[in-house]
Amino acid sequence: MQEIKFYSGENLPLELHKTRIVQKLHLVPIERRLEALYEGGFNTFQLSTKDVFLDMLTDSGTNAMSDNQLAAMMQADDAYAGSQSFVRLEKAVREVLGKQLLLPVHQGRAAENIIAVAYVHKGSLVPMNYHFTTAMAHITDKGGQIVELLYDEAYVINSEHPFKGNMNIEKLDAIIQQHGAKNIPFIRMEASTNLIGGQPFSIQNLRDVRAVADKYGIRLVLDCSLLGENAYLVIQREEEFKDSDMGTVMRTMTGLADLCYFSARKLSSSRGGGICTDSKEIFRELEALVPLYEGFLTYGGMSIREVEAMAVGLYETLDETVISQSPSFIKYLVEELHKKQIPVIRPAGVLGVHLDAMQICAHIPQKQYPAGALAAALFLISGVRGMERGSISNQRDEYGNETYADMELLRLAVPRRVFTLSQIKYVEDRLTWLYENRNLIGGLKFNYEPPVLRFFMGKLEPTSDWPQKLVAKFKEDFGESL
Ligand code: F0G
Repeated sequence: MQEIKFYSGENLPLELHKTRIVQKLHLVPIERRLEALYEGGFNTFQLSTKDVFLDMLTDSGTNAMSDNQLAAMMQADDAYAGSQSFVRLEKAVREVLGKQLLLPVHQGRAAENIIAVAYVHKGSLVPMNYHFTTAMAHITDKGGQIVELLYDEAYVINSEHPFKGNMNIEKLDAIIQQHGAKNIPFIRMEASTNLIGGQPFSIQNLRDVRAVADKYGIRLVLDCSLLGENAYLVIQREEEFKDSDMGTVMRTMTGLADLCYFSARKLSSSRGGGICTDSKEIFRELEALVPLYEGFLTYGGMSIREVEAMAVGLYETLDETVISQSPSFIKYLVEELHKKQIPVIRPAGVLGVHLDAMQICAHIPQKQYPAGALAAALFLISGVRGMERGSISNQRDEYGNETYADMELLRLAVPRRVFTLSQIKYVEDRLTWLYENRNLIGGLKFNYEPPVLRFFMGKLEPTSDWPQKLVAKFKEDFGESL
């Protein structure tokens, strides 16, 4: 992609789109935000958008849609079976992802469910570069276990390593020998590994994983939810692909996998999801599960309008100006925070900015959930809603013990083409203030903890009156400012 320089020398990410439909936002007073936190059990998933100013919870289903996507939704061929919209989607999957056979599902985790129902049993072990919450939940739900095989570098917060999402090949080989290939239904690779800070793997690493999969005759499953972003970073960071286009890089990755699945809520800025493969055998093994769990094979639980939006969105992932927008804003914010020595995952990845709560809230023990506390504190002082990606997002082990996360992160998602640069600067400003006042942030404890995916519905409370103290300091410094 061609660089655009400013005469001033400033290094700013420039928006290559214009806004044509807008949604009004509200920044409610800090007193209301404090009430909202108590009402929502200090869990940002439990907040109402009427209290949220900048919603940086996720990019899932929140990327801006294009004029062409909206236009395509109007020509949806609504039919229970045999819809022409599905034919258009299949064509897009063939052309963009290079896979011939498609099974539609209503979102990414539905694909994870179907793959786990088909292949995972008690005693199964699924090696992966790193887990995603829903992928792991579906595997353990079917009696399987997961093992994460990243290199140590992936856990280093402040690093220059370009491919922290790489799978540790030596460990992969050793694990297969130890557990036996017959107990390993598939190896899972996740593009732009979400929970370690949106960090990519290299194509060379994926080739190496493929070689191990071939050596032992094990399927390779690729989670393509953030495939476009992984491809963009491969072009930026992997010498062999520096002159390649998005489509070539994306299809090189999908071509190495036996089975690909995705959340279209992320991949194609739409809703829905899909499973795709070139193998007739895999297709047959999964096919019957789609009408059982999702819907008929030409809509998979989605509205047909979404099928149309997905098809157009898939083609738009080939456009580097679409895919690079969010990573370039993320890079800008990461570098500004880093200059101020605010601990943040580096190098800048995709999906969002990931703050290191373990360092920022070093005074909060892990059992009091520093990342959850930081998420609550940031919402309180700014109206910015992020997502805890630390121990609250982990599940307890089979004996009910806490399993502490490797990293305690606060993720601030930057959905595609949604925020302006001044909004990003506001986030930077409030984070700077919060960092200077970090000692006022205190811990959290659960008062309602659901047994599965507790981070969605759990309710917590502060371990002291720290939120009130933070409000008092905010008022001292900002007066009547919102
Ligand atoms: N895989 C990855 C890598 C994801 O990031 C997600 C969702 C899924 C699978 C599941 O897809 O939500 O459509 O069911 N990630 C969202 C997030 C929820 O906020 O990161 P889904």
